[in-house]
Amino acid sequence: MSKRIHPQEVMKALGAVRDPAGRGIVALGCVKGVEVGEGRISVALELPPPISVTTPAGQQLLRAVHQAVEALDAGEVEIHVARPAAEAAGASGPAHPPGAGHGRAPAEAAAAAPKLAPGVKTTIAVASGKGGVGKSTVAANLAVALASAGRSVGLMDTDVYGPSVPMLVGARRDPEVIQGKLEPPTEHGVKIISMGYFLPKDEAVIWRGPMLHKTVQQFLGDVRWGNLDYLVIDLPPGTGDIQLSLCQTASLTGAVIVSTPQDLALTVASKAIAMFQKLNVPILGIVENMSYYVCSHCGHREEIFGHGGARLAAERMGFAFLGEIPLDLRIRTESDRGQPVALDGLTPQGKAFRDAAVALEAEVAKMQVAEEIVIE
Ligand SMILES: Nc1ncnc2c1ncn2[C@@H]1O[C@H](COP(=O)(O)OP(=O)(O)OP(=O)(O)O)[C@@H](O)[C@H]1O
Ligand SMILES: [Mg+2]
Repeated sequence: MSKRIHPQEVMKALGAVRDPAGRGIVALGCVKGVEVGEGRISVALELPPPISVTTPAGQQLLRAVHQAVEALDAGEVEIHVARPAAEAAGASGPAHPPGAGHGRAPAEAAAAAPKLAPGVKTTIAVASGKGGVGKSTVAANLAVALASAGRSVGLMDTDVYGPSVPMLVGARRDPEVIQGKLEPPTEHGVKIISMGYFLPKDEAVIWRGPMLHKTVQQFLGDVRWGNLDYLVIDLPPGTGDIQLSLCQTASLTGAVIVSTPQDLALTVASKAIAMFQKLNVPILGIVENMSYYVCSHCGHREEIFGHGGARLAAERMGFAFLGEIPLDLRIRTESDRGQPVALDGLTPQGKAFRDAAVALEAEVAKMQVAEEIVIE
């Protein structure tokens, strides 16, 4: 049986919850009331503008509220979201029809922008603060690991300067145009699209911002993705305007940040995190790549770049730590021959990626807590 607590204790727990800009929601006046009943706690909230319940940031905030209250172990948690007075005055009917998010992924519930790929439930960007940390390797292996777990998965390579996904997955087939739409080839159970299929080999292509934006729109809207549980998006390195525009076009459910152990200890990955926060895109978690090295001859483990920096940083920033991927010769050689190691979950390398995919799915599922929310 759950214990009975005082509403003030609930307020105290909510005091630790912050909005994406780092402001405490109690201090901001977002908590409009707390009621403690028999085995049940109700929290009335008003989200700080511009956040709304239909945005990923809103859902992340509601999840944080839910978790904070649930941790008190005092019964079922109910969250009522009232619309800000200004918004309520300007519109009739509920901000979002009650139950409209039911059974849907958060991105789909984010109805503000029309979705370019409406059959895609969950859209996840894989990003990093800097190049060469293994984003594409992690994106490809997460996609393969999710497909191995029975999910329908697509992998979209938005790196037009150095598209590496076709090589990583083998690219045995090319996309086909069927009735004006691109049919993505399926490799290892994952539907793939990449500029690498269309670019002349060994030729530099100069891209301008608007062209890039259009390419991503086409990759989302003109590709026959069908119904997908997950669309994994491999982003180009960096956190500039191009990445911002890509993320905005793709209406993301969340982002996975890849870092090597030493980066995160430094501040590079936090640049990527800041970019997503600016866009109100939740961070689903951090993967530490090239985490440690195991000698293929003697099995000795070396921590070349240090180890655990990403886990510590994730804890400090309040994000999930999704796992550690070793620096391993096999990961590189198998990647080079188009056989992502996650295809074999029995190898330690493959297991590392599959475990990270399990952790990622758990984080996505947690975001769906927002579905239980009653909207007033
Ligand atoms: N855990 C690992 N162990 C060994 N090699 C790895 C590992 N992760 C990535 N690599 C290798 O490091 C190189 C860079 O990886 P990858 O292309 O995935 O990085 P990236 O962050 O996508 O790079 P870019 O910023 O250029 O897009 C590749 O040769 C890849 O095979
Ligand atoms: Mg890459």
